[in-house]
Amino acid sequence: MTREPSNSKVSVAFCCLGNICRSPMAEAVLRHAANELNLSHLVGDIDSFGTSGFHSGDGPDRRTVQTCRANGVPINHVARQAKSNDFERFDYIFAMDRENLEDLKYMQPRGSKSQVLLFGTYAEDSRVDKIVNDPYYGGPDGFQRIFKQLDHFSRVFLKQLAADRANV
Ligand code: 4NP
Repeated sequence: MTREPSNSKVSVAFCCLGNICRSPMAEAVLRHAANELNLSHLVGDIDSFGTSGFHSGDGPDRRTVQTCRANGVPINHVARQAKSNDFERFDYIFAMDRENLEDLKYMQPRGSKSQVLLFGTYAEDSRVDKIVNDPYYGGPDGFQRIFKQLDHFSRVFLKQLAADRANV
């Protein structure tokens, strides 16, 4: 992956379908991991949104809140739908699954700055599934499973940012 060398903070947004389960959890997990690894100076804005507006204005799903709380991760978000200027505002927009990725690529204005990628691009451990599947219709196990995926991808992403910065 090519990246412009820069000393400025990187801005990141996460995207799923409803913006109440996966992407608000991803946002909270990345922020928490950056603090824990003492790498928060590398990351600026962190936000999340959905490809749909079905749940706009809602807080995160209670199972997302419970899972974050059980893992010591603060979470606070109000759902919203992706909008055109998000593709100028964020350096990275990370999709949870392939459908989110395709929808985002369809929405992305031509020539806009965001790199739109699957967050699972940052899987270092081949046992971790790269796709963050929708846990909405499943039980609480699904939420703990996606938490582990998001924590893994966040740590790999942050370590890669730190390594790139060290090489500038
Ligand atoms: P999310 O999960 O995309 O991870 O926020 C979903 C939340 C709600 C619905 C689907 C997925 N829904 O159909 O309402």
